[in-house]
Amino acid sequence: MNPMRIGKLGFIGAGNMASAMIKAFVESGHVPAERIYVSNRSSQKLNRLKEVYGIQACANNEEVVDQADLIILAIKPQDLVGAIEPIGSSFLPSHTVISLAAGFNLRTLQRLIPQVKNLVRVMPNTPTNIRRGVIGYCLGPEAQGSAALIEQLMGALGIVVFAPEGEAFEALTVSCGSGPGFVFELMQYWQEWIEERGFEPAQARRMVVQTFLGAAELANMDAAVRLEELQDRVTSKKGVTAAGLQSMRELEIERALRYSFEKAVLRDQEIARGTAQS
Ligand SMILES: NC(=O)c1ccc[n+]([C@@H]2O[C@H](COP(=O)([O-])OP(=O)(O)OC[C@H]3O[C@@H](n4cnc5c(N)ncnc54)[C@H](OP(=O)(O)O)[C@@H]3O)[C@@H](O)[C@H]2O)c1
Repeated sequence: MNPMRIGKLGFIGAGNMASAMIKAFVESGHVPAERIYVSNRSSQKLNRLKEVYGIQACANNEEVVDQADLIILAIKPQDLVGAIEPIGSSFLPSHTVISLAAGFNLRTLQRLIPQVKNLVRVMPNTPTNIRRGVIGYCLGPEAQGSAALIEQLMGALGIVVFAPEGEAFEALTVSCGSGPGFVFELMQYWQEWIEERGFEPAQARRMVVQTFLGAAELANMDAAVRLEELQDRVTSKKGVTAAGLQSMRELEIERALRYSFEKAVLRDQEIARGTAQS
């Protein structure tokens, strides 16, 4: 890994996702702290990042744009236009701009900063905090040459997946971006059921977490083994697991999940329409 290729990295916004990324970039050595420039609306989070990681705290967003080669927009979609419009002319054609804003499409971003060719959308999920994220990205029409840089940089945070903007990016947003939220929902049902049968909440929680972790680790051990095959290995004919699985199928849990994913996609599209500029 050569940090020279990434150059100076800027963050506009120092909230949860920026903090998780900065932690991972600095701790993994992907980007040294002295090459990370950060601004935030209020000063508290910025000062903390400076104290903990030694990043360069900037007085305003324009200073980030002036200092950095690659700028990550780590602010909420509803704040993005207000933050970028006043400093739009400070961006240079040589900048690479990465937006994390959910539902904020590349075309809208391009209208805000038309001179920038290397426009990228990145969709991280919360396990990015522990460098076990799924980080999806799509590229603007003139940013195809940025793929290697994005893969290299975001590789510090977990696995990196390219998905063209549109249906594929929406699917990634819902299945992986919202995915941890859906998994936590299932984990809660699991825990409640165990608790109702006499286990202490803390013990029930540990049992559930370890079951999910163990299953995921087993699936992760050999990519060549299909999930169906792993399931077959724990399911004997007419046995306990088989009885549970039969009910899951009769109750059409797959249909419920698919329906929920489709609803989430519709909401993603609704947000995109709300943030799109005419
Ligand atoms: N968190 C996730 O799991 C996740 C996953 C995927 C994508 N994303 C995307 O990542 C982006 C950031 O999310 P987040 O969870 O990190 O949000 P967050 O914790 O609310 O952080 C947003 C930060 O932006 C700052 N900000 C707002 N307006 C600003 C402006 N005009 N100039 C400079 N800073 C400004 C806020 O400052 P204050 O401290 O003053 O409020 C806040 O610290 C969002 O677009 C979100 O869609 C997040």
